[in-house]
Amino acid sequence: MTGTRPRIVVSRWIPDDAVALLREVGEVWLPEPDRALPAAELHERLAGADAAVVTLSEQAGADFADAAGPQLKVVANVAVGYDNIDVPALAERGVTVTNTPGVLTDATADIAFGLLLSVTRRLGEGERLLRAGTPWSFHLGFMLGSGLQGKTLGIVGLGQIGRAMAERARAFGMSIVYTGRRRAPAEVESALDATYLPQDELLATADVVSLHCPLTPETRHLIDADALAAMKPTAFLVNTTRGPVVDEAALAAALREGTIAGAGLDVFENEPDVHPDLLDLDNVALAPHLGSATVETRTAMATLAARNVLAVLAGKPPLTEVTP
Ligand code: DGY
Repeated sequence: MTGTRPRIVVSRWIPDDAVALLREVGEVWLPEPDRALPAAELHERLAGADAAVVTLSEQAGADFADAAGPQLKVVANVAVGYDNIDVPALAERGVTVTNTPGVLTDATADIAFGLLLSVTRRLGEGERLLRAGTPWSFHLGFMLGSGLQGKTLGIVGLGQIGRAMAERARAFGMSIVYTGRRRAPAEVESALDATYLPQDELLATADVVSLHCPLTPETRHLIDADALAAMKPTAFLVNTTRGPVVDEAALAAALREGTIAGAGLDVFENEPDVHPDLLDLDNVALAPHLGSATVETRTAMATLAARNVLAVLAGKPPLTEVTP
């Protein structure tokens, strides 16, 4: 702490608007130029921090809080997913945890739908062919993909992003089934014309399975070899939530063996690594965790995180708290 101003540690680059908000109330430290800090260095920097702003690449649990010290009041995650945060361990130490729901819904659903179009219409494969200088000519049987109109989208987790994905799919003439821990409210089901199905029925029915559930101990490897075998051989899988929801080795085998038709992936089990078998397959569209990566969305996420910090430091309730 400098004088009476709180110390705020930001683990990585965040947009300037958010830094400016934080500087209104405290002394801000962040790595300049931006780099990924090894955990030991981040822990050193945290000493004496009253607040921390982190991204999904940093783990924040007991060690993190203890490195900061007992004055730590808030950890603001610049992400909606918070599987990188040990919320109970922080709560035990009196530390408030916040995330950034709502502001990245459309951007993430856009990427999910973009990956779906990319894999079903073979856009990445076509681009690779052109860039490789492979000879080609238009003919009626050339690089045929699968249309989406009249097909069924199966959503796993009908939260905000799942609903936004459903809205996009409706505009493309798809019908919607969904599964999840609980049924959506009746008005949501009727607005999307979405039908609840148990997971096994959804897997067997859907032409596209799109994952929008959080990563929890229950959803780790939710899509494993058995789940993939339950899908139609013509079906596609889209994952924009967290990599470990899918058993990546099982997925690579299923894509290679034709158990399912294709996949669109924005997230990976061991980011930034991608299972090497996936890189060799043409029936998978890949993106490097770009779900929320627009200027507007990242600014909205970081300023929401900063507002959460400001609220807690002012002794007010945060805007978007995560509770254990
Ligand atoms: C999130 O917010 O959880 C995304 O994965 C990153 O934007």
